[in-house]
Amino acid sequence: MSTRTLRWMAIVLPLFFMVGVIYLRVTFVPPERSLEGNIVTVVAVALGASLFSIFFFRIIDRREEEITQRGRQLEALHEAAVALTVEMDLQVVLQKIVDISRTLLSAKYGALGVVEKGTTQIQQFITSGIEPEVRAHIGAPPVGLGLLGMVAPRDGALIIDDIQKDPRSVGFPPHHPPMRCLLVVPITSKGEIFGNLYVADKVLSLRPDGREDVLSFVRADAELLQKFATQAAIAIENAQLLRKTQEITVMQERERFGMALHDGIMQSVYAAGLSLQEAKYEIGTNTQHAGRRIDQAVDSLGQVLRDLRNYIMGLRTGRFQGQDVATSLGQLAAELRANTLMNVVYEAPTKLSVIRLDEARTEELLLIAQEALNNIRKHAQARNVLVSLKGEGELVVLRIMDDGIGFDFEAAAGGDGNGLRNMRERARKLGGDLEIDSLPTRGTNLRVQMPLQPAPTSPAGA
Ligand SMILES: Nc1ncnc2c1ncn2[C@@H]1O[C@H](COP(=O)(O)OP(=O)(O)OP(=O)(O)O)[C@@H](O)[C@H]1O
Ligand SMILES: [Mg+2]
Repeated sequence: MSTRTLRWMAIVLPLFFMVGVIYLRVTFVPPERSLEGNIVTVVAVALGASLFSIFFFRIIDRREEEITQRGRQLEALHEAAVALTVEMDLQVVLQKIVDISRTLLSAKYGALGVVEKGTTQIQQFITSGIEPEVRAHIGAPPVGLGLLGMVAPRDGALIIDDIQKDPRSVGFPPHHPPMRCLLVVPITSKGEIFGNLYVADKVLSLRPDGREDVLSFVRADAELLQKFATQAAIAIENAQLLRKTQEITVMQERERFGMALHDGIMQSVYAAGLSLQEAKYEIGTNTQHAGRRIDQAVDSLGQVLRDLRNYIMGLRTGRFQGQDVATSLGQLAAELRANTLMNVVYEAPTKLSVIRLDEARTEELLLIAQEALNNIRKHAQARNVLVSLKGEGELVVLRIMDDGIGFDFEAAAGGDGNGLRNMRERARKLGGDLEIDSLPTRGTNLRVQMPLQPAPTSPAGA
């Protein structure tokens, strides 16, 4: 009964009663017997008032009981939510959901069947209240036949008073503990059913003979479990999100390592190999020159060790640490000139356009240049190379051109090499872009254009 109806009844009932009493009195009690009339009226009013207050207080008592019970449930739900938020590991969260739902509903058994997206096929079945040895005895987990395959209405619940008698039941497997009452609610996450939450056998009291009293689940139980299922869904989503974030972090770390390995460490090993190869040919004829090549190889290997050490300690690979971009670029050009027969020209930025980049951005740009020059050395068969760095307004432009055999950029970018991909990724990280203009036999023009200042990072939470 709603409070509104009750309020009306509290006004209308006494009124009707009073009118009734007055009517009876006027109709049946003659005026000369007014004393008896008064006594009967007082008795009737007293009786009516008592009955009225008994009726109303009973309703108030019931209401109070309901409110206390709801308060207790809310408290239990709140505790359940808090218990769930402490856990972030998905498997632990799922087990906790089953354990808590059992406690919430005073059920002897609980289970969570995680279903395959869009089907009723059970992918994972987590239980609570069944000893591991018993579970092992039961054998393979259920796959979603019979009652376990029943889908409770999307936002509803399924209450079954006697599992054995239900026509949809396919019976328990051997060694399965007997169960009688079942309550099922779905856990929905992002509009899809993630799984079904089952509790079986509500046990509230022990009978004097030691046996348990199994009660049927009622609507209020279903509502409580539904509310808990909503919280469970949030905990599951959080745990899934964390798992995904961790996977992304691992992937990003792998990518970072891949790039550091390719652009720093492998290039140094490659350079050491080239120097040793040249030394091998010159050792008989030009010992002095060969000695210089071996020194270069030793330097390169030393660089490898330094890079690896820095990488392990979580630092930048560090080949260009502490140097300004224009000077380092000059060094890279000079190295190419010294180690090959190519004519390498470097056009440094003019004094008017001094380019100041922070250390991290300097390193990224130099790693792009280093890879471009290595590619020329490895693939271009060029005679002339031009390296230029310019400040153009708010932009920094790096150009590296060769007059070698050129290549099909689109085809090469999808190939096995990492160099082109890394260059593009580094340019993107710098907030700029990489353009390669190359045609077979026509040489290659590479241009990296980036803003002088890094893009401002948006404040957290914006
Ligand atoms: N300047 C260039 N002249 C001619 N061909 C080039 C030039 N730069 C790149 N290429 C071609 O593009 C391909 C891809 O280059 P990329 O740097 O991605 O890989 P890679 O140099 O072969 O290997 P990695 O860089 O991973 O050691 C090269 O194999 C080469 O055929
Ligand atoms: Mg390369």
